[in-house]
Amino acid sequence: MLFSGFLVGLFLGLASGEDGSAAWLRYAPLPHASSYNFLPSSIITLNSTKGSPVYTAQQELHRGFRGIFGKTLSNGSSRSRSESIIVGTAHVYQKSYGEFDEAEEIEEDGYFLSTEGPQVLILGQNERGALYGAFDYLSRLAQGKLDAVSYVSNPHASIRWTNEWDNLDGSIERGYAGPSIFFENGFVTDNATRVAKYARLLASIRINGIIVNNVNTNEMLLSPQNIDGLGRLADAMRPYGVQLGISLNFASPQLLGGLGTFDPLDPTVDAWWANITNQIYARVPDMAGYLVKANSEGQPGPLTYNRTLADGANLFARAVKPHGGIIMFRAFVYDHHLNESNWKADRANAAVEFFQDLDGKFDDNVVVQIKYGPIDFQVREPASPLFSSLRNTSTAIELQVTQEYLGQQSHLVCIAPMWKEILEFDLKADNRSSKVKDIVSGERFRRPLGGFAGVVNVGTNATWLGSHLAMSNLYAYGLLAWDPALGAEEILQDWIRLTFGHDQKVIETITDMSMKSWPAYENYTGNLGIQTLMDVLYSHFGPNPASMDNNGWGMWTRADKFSIGMDRTVKNGTGNAGQYSPEVAKVFENVETTPDNLLLWFHHVNYMHSLKSGKTVIQHFYDSHYEGAATAQTLLRQWESLKGKIDSERYEHVLFRQKFQAGHALVWRDSINQFYYNLSEIKDEAGRVGNHPYRIEAEKMTLDSYKSYGVNPFHAASGAQAIVTASNSTIGTATTKVTFESGTYDVAVNYYDLIGGKAQYELHMNNRTIGSAHSFGKSRRVLRRSDALNDGSACLCMWAVSSHRTAEWRLAHDSTGV
Ligand code: GCU
Repeated sequence: MLFSGFLVGLFLGLASGEDGSAAWLRYAPLPHASSYNFLPSSIITLNSTKGSPVYTAQQELHRGFRGIFGKTLSNGSSRSRSESIIVGTAHVYQKSYGEFDEAEEIEEDGYFLSTEGPQVLILGQNERGALYGAFDYLSRLAQGKLDAVSYVSNPHASIRWTNEWDNLDGSIERGYAGPSIFFENGFVTDNATRVAKYARLLASIRINGIIVNNVNTNEMLLSPQNIDGLGRLADAMRPYGVQLGISLNFASPQLLGGLGTFDPLDPTVDAWWANITNQIYARVPDMAGYLVKANSEGQPGPLTYNRTLADGANLFARAVKPHGGIIMFRAFVYDHHLNESNWKADRANAAVEFFQDLDGKFDDNVVVQIKYGPIDFQVREPASPLFSSLRNTSTAIELQVTQEYLGQQSHLVCIAPMWKEILEFDLKADNRSSKVKDIVSGERFRRPLGGFAGVVNVGTNATWLGSHLAMSNLYAYGLLAWDPALGAEEILQDWIRLTFGHDQKVIETITDMSMKSWPAYENYTGNLGIQTLMDVLYSHFGPNPASMDNNGWGMWTRADKFSIGMDRTVKNGTGNAGQYSPEVAKVFENVETTPDNLLLWFHHVNYMHSLKSGKTVIQHFYDSHYEGAATAQTLLRQWESLKGKIDSERYEHVLFRQKFQAGHALVWRDSINQFYYNLSEIKDEAGRVGNHPYRIEAEKMTLDSYKSYGVNPFHAASGAQAIVTASNSTIGTATTKVTFESGTYDVAVNYYDLIGGKAQYELHMNNRTIGSAHSFGKSRRVLRRSDALNDGSACLCMWAVSSHRTAEWRLAHDSTGV
């Protein structure tokens, strides 16, 4: 009976589709569920107070068993103990059932999970730990990991928070999944249902805090109405053991409080913060703390009053101290009006310059939150040297789950492998092992606090992040914050099983796609440590290498006709290499020992400089961009190979994004290569760059209701021109005559539209329709000899059947485009 129930469920699952809202908590029926007759039949809950995390754990276990096994657990009593799951804190368990050996090993938020004995034990050091244990147990069951286990799992670090860059008006800075779940129209949302769902999702990956508002903060967050609203959010999150925190505007005493100053050493300012903090804690007694972005990118801060950043941080530390709160103070402080004509100017130096002399001057409940690299979430950065400069200050690492510089959820980029490289990087402080992961846990420098902050920016879109595949990044973020020793692929495969099921081909394909995706993205966006060569001035999306120089933001490549890269050496450059410990500095100072993937981060070299591979820098650029873009085409093919194995809703959603990525990767490839070819005038040895013998330039075709359009940046279209329909409602036609020898030819159109776009096209050969947006985007068509006109030519005609100016199409001789 149960088995057939499972089959029906599975069938429905595939047919009806899924919107992604369940993420990895689908509790989908497990194949052969009926054969598991050894499963527990009841739950003994050691705290059944509604709203407590232990109660939540019980609810979750009920839900999970129903979904995975179609089984209803009864509420057990101590008499039915042997077939029960016992869930609660270790402390309460010991009072009722006596000692157990592992009790001593469980640390704060940790848990003991045992399925070995006659009953299943899920015992947390605290209530939150018990909930984590329940989620872990259910994750194992949902993945079919049914072997008996018994282990203690403890967190690597105590702070495992997300940061959400949500604005009070409901927009989200660098968010790609619709408006905020926390705010709308200037206020905290009335309906916290989705906030509770998000807290549940985060608890399942052992995240224990959410900073709910943007680091660029509006002081109105502290209005009485919003403080009450924050209370509502915290109430929704509390059953999941997730604490609320907020970002503060440093100038609030002046902007909101009406004081004449926000000087952190002014007693009236101090009193103002103490007072407002007390008001917040009165409504949110377990508030995690504050996050502060001060004197950064135009935000106010203590430097205005010639006070130090530590003075600024400690102001808040004093206010939250009586309530047990923590201050996360961001190290993202730099001058954003830098002048590139100064060879020594370097934004990468800023964090160490601002913070190193303050080491030891921060109160004990302050944690300095450091972005993983010295600049800003680029596709490749070395670990920030600040991690090893602060020995007497607690630190946390800031990672970005939202893909601001990594394709904004329109490109598949699985980030865990990059995070792993950073976390495992050894900064060799005092010539001793000093991995980033052990510094931020507090272990290396014996700090009381430490941890992880992940900028997530979920929105109201059902998929949470705007892309199903991007959710592996959120999942991996939580698990790595808990245990950075886990392997990226291991985490990924658990996530795939939970999200897409047990089909081996699905698991292998998504694993392969994901593991290839970061290297591919690096290849087609910016390699050798040059950073993501995107549009730095506005969108942070799409290629614009020219914008990566002569900007005040200090994100530079220093590319000229002959050479490229930032000279960050001590001997001749900005001195940044010298911010690392001597052992690490020695490696980065020397062009020979610097790894190729960071060469242009640390050195300014000629385009003809030879890499360790033997290739020149410029040829490496050309080749990598071709390789990366080619991989992006294979990601699409791989996804297509899963048709029928994934419910159609999620299949189509991802398909659209993979098509976009495949198309956009070609634009990236050609833009970057064309740009450096124009600049250096060095030919591609393989003869590809600037040489597209089969390409038909749209603007050279005969246009009807289309017009040419000068593209900016120029290198984003070959010939610097594209065509656009005369208006958003007209349908245009572009026609050209092609001459060809008798034979069989492939014609491929690389077509993709922007997210939310509606562009369509049809392609005609003489009077025959040979392709359309629906039928042709991916496959090849043969031009038959009979297509030839008398003179051996044929007329190719492209129609925009529903026009939309943002769409891009190009005609190329094969599907990878040449
Ligand atoms: C980046 C990002 C900004 C953000 C800033 C920060 O520069 O583009 O939107 O405010 O980082 O982390 O504070």
